[in-house]
Amino acid sequence: MGVNVKQLAAEKAVEYVMDGMKVGLGTGSTAYWAIAKLGERVREGLQVTCVATSRASEEQARGLGIPLVGFGEIGSLDLTIDGADELDGKLQLIKGGGGALLREKIVAANSTRMIVVADESKAVHTLGKFPLPVEIVPFAWEWTVAELAKLGGVPQLRRSGEELYLTDNGNYIADCHFEVITSAPELALALQAIPGVVEHGLFIGIASLAIIGRNDGTIDIL
Ligand code: 5RP
Repeated sequence: MGVNVKQLAAEKAVEYVMDGMKVGLGTGSTAYWAIAKLGERVREGLQVTCVATSRASEEQARGLGIPLVGFGEIGSLDLTIDGADELDGKLQLIKGGGGALLREKIVAANSTRMIVVADESKAVHTLGKFPLPVEIVPFAWEWTVAELAKLGGVPQLRRSGEELYLTDNGNYIADCHFEVITSAPELALALQAIPGVVEHGLFIGIASLAIIGRNDGTIDIL
């Protein structure tokens, strides 16, 4: 059986969790392995208080007996471990492939440290190949999508089968196909300026460490 590189990276990140920490739990198939490992450590006696970034992560953590609180109960965290859809050499990320970008950004931005966990396919030179998820309010979504299109990408409203995809917050996601994002900070500013945009999946200046699992079974720490 081949190495599970997502598991490799995620389990390494859990080594950074210390007794008494407040920890943000990411979302997705890589964060899944971090939550699973954290569950093991909690069973062995590790004391942590956690905030989940999605219903799926919350359910997983609850099933493993990981202590969970609402974000409002603690307000800030020591460490968040989360995946990414793309990351570049400056630790700029595209997130939101799993639709949880809003809660992920609130939690990560309020953490002293965010560790990104990913397999090597996520590490890129330039962001943009992965369509950038943008969470938008349902009201006047047609107008918001038209405004997004003016930024040079091709927005596509995310679907879930026949229905429009709804985030945990009751919003839509427009996946914006840019191919190449020449300046992530400039694009972030332009996105934030559009009324109707709740949040976008560019994480800039938030991640402090990346743990990349390689197909040969090694790990890179950036
Ligand atoms: C969810 C996310 C995920 O972290 C991102 O999509 C990566 O997921 P995976 O680890 O399954 O590849 O941003 O909103």
